[in-house]
Amino acid sequence: MKLNRQEAIRKLVSMHGPGSPMENSFKGLPLAVPSFGAEEVEEAIEALLTGWITMGTRVAKFEQLWAAAVGVDHAIAVNSGSSALLVMLNALVEIDVLRRGQTVLVPAVGWSTSLFAVAQAGLKPVLIDVDSETLCIEGAYEEPVLAIHLLGCPSGVDAPLIIEDACGAHGAKIGNKTVGGLGICGAFSFFFSHHLSTGEGGMITTNDSALADSCRSLRAHGWIRERNDRTMWAEKHAEIDPRFLFVSSGYNLRMTDIAGAFGIHQVPRLPLFLERRRENHEEWCRTIQELNLPLKVFPEPNGRSHAAFAFPMLLDETSPISRQTLCDALEKRGIQTRPISGSHLARQPAFSKVPGASVRGATPVADRVHSHGFFVGQSHGFGPEQGALLLEALTDIFRT
Ligand SMILES: Cc1ncc(COP(=O)(O)O)c(C=O)c1O
Repeated sequence: MKLNRQEAIRKLVSMHGPGSPMENSFKGLPLAVPSFGAEEVEEAIEALLTGWITMGTRVAKFEQLWAAAVGVDHAIAVNSGSSALLVMLNALVEIDVLRRGQTVLVPAVGWSTSLFAVAQAGLKPVLIDVDSETLCIEGAYEEPVLAIHLLGCPSGVDAPLIIEDACGAHGAKIGNKTVGGLGICGAFSFFFSHHLSTGEGGMITTNDSALADSCRSLRAHGWIRERNDRTMWAEKHAEIDPRFLFVSSGYNLRMTDIAGAFGIHQVPRLPLFLERRRENHEEWCRTIQELNLPLKVFPEPNGRSHAAFAFPMLLDETSPISRQTLCDALEKRGIQTRPISGSHLARQPAFSKVPGASVRGATPVADRVHSHGFFVGQSHGFGPEQGALLLEALTDIFRT
């Protein structure tokens, strides 16, 4: 029997491709497991076969789906979460919401490129300490804040301008508002280890049309092609070919349609992924707290919906064993560990190379995270077995 192209792809993928991401087969407790199944692979092959593999219709569809999932008017796809941060911060300067040299408060515990992007946009990053219960910036401030929703926990910050780094917080909420729609704009990452993945990938979300258009130009060479207001620009500069009319000092950070193909099948998976992650997070917090170990865990704050990107822990200063000893023992049992993001960003050698960066006030929480914090993986693919593995390992290690 002769199969048509789509049937042939389906057959090939069903024979050799991945199964459901909810049924991952893996050993121990890895830091990340794949989030995709056969649908993503089939669609990516379809994208390849069309011959159009740069940004195209699949990226546009992914953008629409993501804007709807976050509850905003605009989503602009890029090639990583770091690119999303870089583009949106530059766009905020381009449209005069922020001015070059202006201070932006940044959590002292965060990711390297979140901090770097602030300086790369000509702004002055000022690190401040994070809250001991959420590891995010909490409370009211009078200056613009880059709020990192660290490891899936939404940051409860109030400021005249909130710029969100939701790279690791897909679907997290405060009340019924989804992160990425809490402030003027938000950045998401679709790197392999994140809730949803396109391999590498990112997205900017916003309700601000001028900001969205600026992001569209900055993402692709500075040209007008994907801007909603492109006709206005073309008419204003009628002497220049509108296909090559450059209005921003841009980059090229586009997402490919192969990544877009993954994205459109990833978005519908998020509610189920989140349900599993949140259940695991709650159960792990509860059971570890019951053990009375010298370990702090971070339960979901009231009124917020945690996206449970990973499972952070903080060793008490009174612990009879060091973080290194604990992590080595966990690794021996197949439980992978790593530091909490970039830990205290001012303690990284790169900090001295970030133009205009400084630290405001004491940072006791970030200091503790730097010296005593670590995380283990959390995933849609985990169930009671992974929780039991972690619990048994911790009980054993502290008993011996
Ligand atoms: C909070 C945060 N911001 C930004 C990024 C950068 O995202 P990407 O790896 O897609 O560039 C990450 C990466 O994990 C992150 O955790």
